[in-house]
Amino acid sequence: LTPERYPVRRLPFSVVSEDDLAALERVVPGRVITDPEELEPPNVDWLRTVRGSSKVLLRPRTTQEVAHILRYCHERNLAVNPQGGNTGMVGGSTPVFDEIILSTALMNQVLSFHDVSGVLVCQAGCVLEALSQYVEERGFIMPLDLGAKGSCHIGGNVATNAGGLRLLRYGSLRGTVLGLEVVMADGTVLNCLTSLRKDNTGYDLKQLFIGSEGTLGVITAVSILCPPKPSTVNVAFLGCPGFAEVLQTFRTCRAMLGEILSAFEFMDAECMKLVRLHLGLSCPVQESPFYVLIETAGSGPGHDAEKLGCFLEQVLDSGLVTDGTLGSDERRIKMLWALRERITEALSRDGYVYKYDLSLPLDRLYDLVGDLRARLGPSAKHVVGYGHLGDGNLHLNVTSEAFSTSLLGALEPYVYEWTAGQRGSVSAEHGLGFKKKDVLGYSKPPEALQLMRQLKALLDPKGILNPYKMLPTHA
Ligand code: FAD
Ligand code: MLT
Ligand code: ZN
Repeated sequence: LTPERYPVRRLPFSVVSEDDLAALERVVPGRVITDPEELEPPNVDWLRTVRGSSKVLLRPRTTQEVAHILRYCHERNLAVNPQGGNTGMVGGSTPVFDEIILSTALMNQVLSFHDVSGVLVCQAGCVLEALSQYVEERGFIMPLDLGAKGSCHIGGNVATNAGGLRLLRYGSLRGTVLGLEVVMADGTVLNCLTSLRKDNTGYDLKQLFIGSEGTLGVITAVSILCPPKPSTVNVAFLGCPGFAEVLQTFRTCRAMLGEILSAFEFMDAECMKLVRLHLGLSCPVQESPFYVLIETAGSGPGHDAEKLGCFLEQVLDSGLVTDGTLGSDERRIKMLWALRERITEALSRDGYVYKYDLSLPLDRLYDLVGDLRARLGPSAKHVVGYGHLGDGNLHLNVTSEAFSTSLLGALEPYVYEWTAGQRGSVSAEHGLGFKKKDVLGYSKPPEALQLMRQLKALLDPKGILNPYKMLPTHA
């Protein structure tokens, strides 16, 4: 899949030898995987758009094992690809050539939880959904949630600075992650695993690793602040007649639901068509050009219901919303969320997916979708728009039966230039990984790129950590 679509040359790293395998076997006994069948899934990304040819996967259990592995690989000039749940959307989690895959799958222990502060400290390989369950049993929730929760690891979430469905309420991981433990490229363990809310002692080094996509160090443990579990959750799923009405609904929602608002997501009619067609889900409201999912989370059922009722009356009476349905029990809430969360899955069943994840000014957020429909005509199967409207984040996806160079040529650099023209971001939350590394310059000035390269050279002088990722190939 790789070479012709993404031209890139292998850098002069060493090739894993029998001696290397024997040495690594001593570090992680029984956890050096070389069976080609077992290596197939970790060599292919979730979207099935890139494929590596790694011959070795390592499964450390402890930070010390990760440190030994990296010390050895650094010494031997062997390239390493850190991998969590392999749910990344930009080809960052899979090797490009024969990099050793370092999986965090067995690093899945909770280290501590404080039931007053809500601070959770855990190993990097804990699956997000398992952590959610763990803290919910103790009266808290994770500050982030995403459709990939059943597979993604907290270390992967931090490494990508994942946004997701709760960012609107709880902010980004840059605020909720309190501390990190990271193993550096040469095997040095950097223990910044504090649980303090306030700590202004020198540079905030953990921020360097949040969103660094495995290129600066391997995250081995995370300290994260969990909010209390809301006792009342409501979801409203609404149909809107146009995008202007979606924006006005958001405005009204913020004004009327303010402190209890916990998510504001949107999807267009094409998305609804796809979740119906490929997943058999049914639309719970009258068909509309746009749908909005609003979640409220609070502590007083009567209070929240009353507020939500007033809001719904207002948006229905004013014609901003044409139809709507509510969910307050767990089963119905899950059912309504599935319509939005499972769009990614429906798209991947529709064909080859060209995936764009853009930050744009709210007023122009949907313009590019209609523009592209006109530009691409029948050469695209579907052009859809959905996303985290409350965060100004559009997921623009185009599908076709199979990969097409001419369709790609019609999409790029057009989409990136359009986004840069709005001073938007060409990657709002998915990162750059392998597939988007060469478009970084659309959102950052040359001076920023230069400083990024200097940081990479300082922290990973041999460039063994996740090579070919995040930073553009050419200066
Ligand atoms: P991987 O995919 O394994 O790795 C991602 C990157 O992080 C790679 O570059 C890898 O090298 C690096 N990495 C992984 N673990 C470590 C570590 N311990 N130390 C250093 N580097 C590491 N993303 C969002 O932001 N918001 C969403 O709403 C969202 N929804 C999604 C829904 C679905 C259905 C899917 C499939 C994906 C979604 N994603 C979303 C993308 C993806 O889930 C996130 O980026 C997630 O955070 C990746 O976690 P992971 O454990 O799967 O990491
Ligand atoms: C989402 O919000 O659903 C995710 O970021 C995945 C995607 O963009 O498809
Ligand atoms: Zn998203």
